[in-house]
Order: sequence, then structure tokens, then C-alpha cells
Amino acid sequence: MRVGQAGLGPWGKNLARNFDDLAELAWLCDARPDRLADAESRFPRARTTESFEEMVADDELEAVVVATDVPTHYRLAKQALEAGKHVFVEKPPAMRAREIDELIALAAERDRVLMPGHLLLYHPGVGKLKDLIDARELGDVLCVYGNRQNLGVVRSHENALWSLGVHDLSVILHLLDEEPEEAIALGRAFLQEGVEDVVFCYLRFPSGKIAHMHLSWLDPHKMRKITVVGREKMAVFDDMELDRKVTVYDKSPEEPEVGATFGEWRTRTGDIFSPKIPNDEPLRLECTAFLELVRGSGDRRKVAEDGARVVRVLERLTTSLDGG
Ligand SMILES: NC(=O)c1ccc[n+]([C@@H]2O[C@H](COP(=O)([O-])OP(=O)(O)OC[C@H]3O[C@@H](n4cnc5c(N)ncnc54)[C@H](O)[C@@H]3O)[C@@H](O)[C@H]2O)c1
Repeated sequence: MRVGQAGLGPWGKNLARNFDDLAELAWLCDARPDRLADAESRFPRARTTESFEEMVADDELEAVVVATDVPTHYRLAKQALEAGKHVFVEKPPAMRAREIDELIALAAERDRVLMPGHLLLYHPGVGKLKDLIDARELGDVLCVYGNRQNLGVVRSHENALWSLGVHDLSVILHLLDEEPEEAIALGRAFLQEGVEDVVFCYLRFPSGKIAHMHLSWLDPHKMRKITVVGREKMAVFDDMELDRKVTVYDKSPEEPEVGATFGEWRTRTGDIFSPKIPNDEPLRLECTAFLELVRGSGDRRKVAEDGARVVRVLERLTTSLDGG
């Protein structure tokens, strides 16, 4: 399969390495000549261009990877779909719900794949959390919260909600498989006007479950963590851990006995264990999933719809953050 990639920054290079291994990386495109030259030296068999239009005009090119700056994602993904290409577009695929809806309609009309790059959905640790929840190992899920904090990288084109929150939100929506009926965000722009560095989000779902996200690039802790609190057990996915990515805590509250005179809630603490998580590179799994969708296996419609759900909730959180 012939793949062309636009955007050869630090993240784009990771994608290019994988697509070069898994398919034929036929085109490299970047508006910056220095980045293009650097990529050309790594992947000498690929053709190079600074023009996205030139790349997508190649009739033999089947798929396009968009790893450019966030505000360009929608426009470039649209151009590639209009040229009849399958599209992998880095997160977030668009910055407005109506834009992603338009991309989905276009992909359906042209019978093409539109896959937003939600990397964590391909992380074996997140897969394990999902399995635990679906198998009801944790009992009823009550709440989920994400911590994504660090000092830097300070972005200028997008705020902490769009840069960091997109990851946790994709995981929370995947785990709970519901769309929130309430979405509230509070935050502040300390360093650059209009670009929030610290954001706290609250989501409430129709089932009554709640979720929270703490997103910040102004923080002493480097945290990449999702915690799921179930009625019977609790589980944590910690991407900073090397070999204890998921920990399950057999802990829960115990109801007072019926008729007890001094009925008090107690807590139960059992084993703490860490299931084995395969060490596969999530990005490799994600790129493989895209190529499989192009080859016709998997549910291409669902992958695109899941991405749209993330954009819809991000848009609502942005309205809340803006005070609307
Ligand atoms: N999934 C993840 O975990 C993850 C991690 C980091 C970044 N990302 C995403 O990947 C994307 C790239 O990240 P990065 O850090 O490499 O970004 P970057 O800003 O360093 O690089 C983007 C590149 O795109 C090029 N570009 C912009 N518009 C272009 C156009 N119209 N045509 C051709 N080239 C163009 C720029 O010249 C630049 O070299 C971003 O969208 C980011 O959100 C995803």
C-alpha cells in the first residue's frame, strides 16, 4: 500500500518510521525544507514535496497521513478525501463538530477510511482497563479521572484542553461508551493570552457516572494516569510506569448491616495486583489498525464516529471554558 505523509515534526517522524516498516512510504511532505531534507535522508526511497496538493494529485497514492499543526488537520484531511485517499489524521481531526461531521460524510460518500489518531485507544494498558470494565471485574463503574500534567511542552496553537485533554477524553469516552450530558471546564491562561495552560474538566454521563480531567503543562509532576473507581474494585493505568502499567486494587466500601445499631460504612482492602500487559508499541498497533481498515477489515465507520464524539465533547468543554 502506498502511503504519503504530511508533517515531519518530532511526532510525524514516529509515524513515518512505522508506515515505512508496514507499507510503502511513497511521499514525504512538509512546508519546512529543513524537515523535508532530514526526512529524505532517513527515507531515501520516498518522493518529497513542500506542496500537499502535489502529493495528493498522485493517482497511485492510496492513503495519506496528516501529522501537521492542529489547525490544518481539517483542511488537509478534507483535501485528501476529496482526492480519493484514505486518511489517517492526527488528533484532534478537527476543531469543530460540524467539521468532523463533514469529513465523516465525505469519507462515507467516497467509501474511504477516516481514522483520527487517538493513540491511547491502541495502548494495551487501556485495552486491559476496558476488558476489566466490560467483564464487570470492577463492579459498577462510579467515576473515572485522568491526570495529564507536566512542566511543558508549552503549546501556542492549542490550549491544554485540546493538546492534552484530547488523549484522556478519548480514553474516558471509550471506557464508558457514553456521551456526557454535562461538560464543564474551568481553567486559566497564565503564559499566553487565550491559551489555557491549566484546565480542570467535569463530565456527567446519562448513567450517573462522572469523570474528571486535570490537564496542565505548568506542573511539578509528570503524570499520565487514568483511574477507574468501581463499586467492587478500582484500577489505575499509569503510563509513567515501566512494567506496572495497570494496577488493580481489590478495595471497596462495605454497606452497614441491615438492623445494626451503630451501622457504619466500612472499607475492605484485599489484594493489589498488576496484570501482565504486552509491551507492544501503541503507535505500531495504531498504524497497523489503519492499514487493516484500508484493506477492508474492521469497522471504519465506528473509528470515525468515535473521533467525532471526542471533538463534540471538546467543543462543549471549550464553550464552558470560554464562560458560555
Ligand atoms: N498521538 C500522539 O500521542 C501525539 C503526540 C504528539 C503530537 N501529536 C500530533 O501530531 C501532530 C504533529 O506533531 P509534531 O509535534 O510533530 O508537530 P510540529 O508542529 O513540530 O510539526 C508539524 C509539521 O507540519 C508541517 N506543516 C504544517 N502545515 C503544513 C502543510 N500545509 N503542508 C505540509 N506541511 C505542513 C510543519 O512545517 C511542521 O514541520 C500534531 O497534530 C499533534 O497534535 C500526536
